[in-house]
Amino acid sequence: MVKVNACVFISGNGTNLKTIIKNSRDYNFPIKISLVISSSKKAKGITFARKYSIPYIVLNVDKKKFEKVALKELLRRNIKLICLAGFMKILSKDFIRSFKGKIINIHPSLLPKYKGLNTFERILKDKEIMTGCTVHFVNEKLDNGRTIVKKRIWIEKKDDTNSLKKRVQCEEYKAYSMAIRKIYVLN
Ligand code: GAR
Repeated sequence: MVKVNACVFISGNGTNLKTIIKNSRDYNFPIKISLVISSSKKAKGITFARKYSIPYIVLNVDKKKFEKVALKELLRRNIKLICLAGFMKILSKDFIRSFKGKIINIHPSLLPKYKGLNTFERILKDKEIMTGCTVHFVNEKLDNGRTIVKKRIWIEKKDDTNSLKKRVQCEEYKAYSMAIRKIYVLN
């Protein structure tokens, strides 16, 4: 199978990155992770790039510089899909336009509910009974693009932010790869 070159942007633990890398080693998975870009030198996720011998770049710089260097690398490596996985910078409109329809993100809520940060705290405070995660295309508005995959879980009485995060992340690992497969099956 001819695989599409993809890049994953991270800022933290990189557990979604790890799962995508593992799945991408399957012959039938539509993408190859050709590059990892981290916005932080402290991101634990970098260890997964190292472990699986994937080229990575750390761009611990301001947004303008980040995007300039990232764009150059993405073009140089013929990257056709950018997966944001715990990437905590907001990309500029220009950057998003230059990769229109080719950037996807995972968010730990059932969008359009709970866009932005501190989702689990807000969900528990509002006494929601259900939550989950959403993989969506990135457009110029925050956490707003078209949904590709959503996964839902019931919130239990005993849940706190940690347990909820853990359970939602388990769903994220399935949702992200499912979304990547879905994009290329539909195209
Ligand atoms: C994930 O739970 C993801 O949904 C969230 O950050 C976590 C990253 O975990 N993303 C956002 O909140 C984006 N607004 P990971 O680094 O272990 O994959």
